[in-house]
Amino acid sequence: MNKCGIFDSGIGGISVAREILKAKLFDEIIYYGDTARVPYGNKNESTIIRYSLEALEFLKNFDIDFLVVACNTASAVAVEELRKEANFPVLGVIEAGVEAIKNEDKNSNILLVGTKRTIKSGKYQKLLQKNGFKNIISIATPLFVPLVEEGIVEGEITDKIFDMYFEDIDKEKIDIVILGCTHYPFLSKTFKKHFPNAKLIHSGQAIVEMIKNNFNITPKKETSIKLFSSDNPEEFKIQAKKWL
Ligand code: DGL
Repeated sequence: MNKCGIFDSGIGGISVAREILKAKLFDEIIYYGDTARVPYGNKNESTIIRYSLEALEFLKNFDIDFLVVACNTASAVAVEELRKEANFPVLGVIEAGVEAIKNEDKNSNILLVGTKRTIKSGKYQKLLQKNGFKNIISIATPLFVPLVEEGIVEGEITDKIFDMYFEDIDKEKIDIVILGCTHYPFLSKTFKKHFPNAKLIHSGQAIVEMIKNNFNITPKKETSIKLFSSDNPEEFKIQAKKWL
């Protein structure tokens, strides 16, 4: 497998592309950020499915032979539809995220954060329960997405939004935080500050493990990346390169 297509609603999937790039699993990555229509997280299911299928159509122009849905929201509602339209493997980040903690203590206090659509879909919660986890708190934290798109990932404003979302939670007691949105790893420093005892689960690292464990891929010498976005490509490239 040589060419991996990756898409997200915007810059968030770069947190996934960065890990895949580092692992050198493919010769080339084609990244598409749907910046014209971000955020996906507050849209309805059929709209997200339509946007995801359009992203797939765009990426097919590059003869990709693997697709990573680097968006938890699209992974929550569109993976099955995408699989019907692709004759190559399509991997979503939700299964990978749950897989990444399957050996953790089943009594762990898990905090799941994501977009409204991801949380509402219940996909993470069902998979976690299926794997024996019982203590799951799930909270939709949509304001984190524009913060990351704007590059505001730490400081007073970010702390205030964290305090607002997590005011009812005993933060010290959280053992695992599932960053159920690919934008959120860019807030890792702030998550660590607010949840000092928690292990952070990152979609990008989880998907790399999943690919390594399920596909026979020999690491490449180098992986190159091409970046595309549906709006403001120049600005997008500057920001993406900063995160990469
Ligand atoms: N980065 C995306 C996710 O993982 C979507 C954020 C959004 O567009 O709302 O869910």
